[in-house]
Amino acid sequence: MIQVEELQRLRGDLAQRRAQGAVAFVPTMGNLHAGHLTLVREARRHAETVVVSIFVNPMQFGANEDLDRYPRTLAADRAALEGEGADILFFPGVAAMYPRPLDQQTRVEVPGISELYCGASRPGHFVGVATVVCKLFNMVQPDVAVFGKKDFQQLLVIRRMVEDLAMPIEIVGVDTAREPDGLAMSSRNRYLTEEQRRTAPLLHRQLVQLAERLRLGERDTAMLRQQATEALDEAGFATDYIEIVDTATLQRVVPGSACDQVVILAAAHLGGARLIDNIEANLS
Ligand code: PAF
Repeated sequence: MIQVEELQRLRGDLAQRRAQGAVAFVPTMGNLHAGHLTLVREARRHAETVVVSIFVNPMQFGANEDLDRYPRTLAADRAALEGEGADILFFPGVAAMYPRPLDQQTRVEVPGISELYCGASRPGHFVGVATVVCKLFNMVQPDVAVFGKKDFQQLLVIRRMVEDLAMPIEIVGVDTAREPDGLAMSSRNRYLTEEQRRTAPLLHRQLVQLAERLRLGERDTAMLRQQATEALDEAGFATDYIEIVDTATLQRVVPGSACDQVVILAAAHLGGARLIDNIEANLS
C-alpha cells in the first residue's frame, strides 16, 4: 500500500492503475475499527484498486462539537489497511483540501433530506459531508464508493447528490458492524466511560424491540417512539430523536402511511458521546 498526500501524485498513480481495472473508494475520517475494514473488504469485491481516504473534515463539525478531540490514529490505521490489502491510502492535509477559509469554500447542498433528523440537530453537517465527499470523488474519480449503513441518512444524502449531479459512481451501502453486545461500532464509542459503555447497547436493543413491535402489527408510531425515548432517558441517555421513517424518502411514517420498508433512526447522547444507530424493518 502506498500513502499519498498530494493530489497530483494520487492522480498520476491512479491513471496507471485505472488501465488495469475499476477503482473502489472508501472515504473515512480514520480511527479505523472493524466496521471500516468491512467497507474495505466490500470495496475489494468491486474493483482491482482500492483507495481509502483519511480526512477529519472540519466542515462537517459544528462549533461545539468534537473536531479537536476526534481520535487521530494514523499509524494504527495504516497498519490495519495494509492488513486488508488496500492499495492507496489518501491522506490529504486540511490546507490542501480547503485552501480558502471554510466560509468561502464552494459547497454542495442536498436540500430536504439534509435538513431532517441529524441535519436538524447538527445544522450544516450534511453540507460539510456532501462537500467533502464530492471533492474526494473528484480527486479519486472512483467507479464505486462504499459507505456504512450506520450513517443511514448520510448514505441517502450521498446517493441523492450522486444522482442529482450525474456522477458516474456506484454507491454501495454495507450493513452496520456491531460489537458482540449489539452496540454499533463507532470511533465515538471511545468517549464512553466503562459504565456508559455497559449502558450503550440499550440503544440497539430499543431499536430491535421497536422493530419487532412494528412487525407484530403495532402502528401507533408516536407511542412507540415515546416509549423508546423514555426507556433510553431513564437509563441515562439524552435522546436526540427516534424516528420511524420511509427507507427511500426519510419521511416520517404515521398510522395509515402506505409504506412497507421503514428504517428506525435514532440519535442519543450518552455522557460525552453522541451515538447514532438504525434498524430496517419490513412492515408487509
Ligand atoms: O462517515 C464518515 O466517516 C464521514 O462523514 C465521511 C463520509 C468520511 C465524510 O467526511
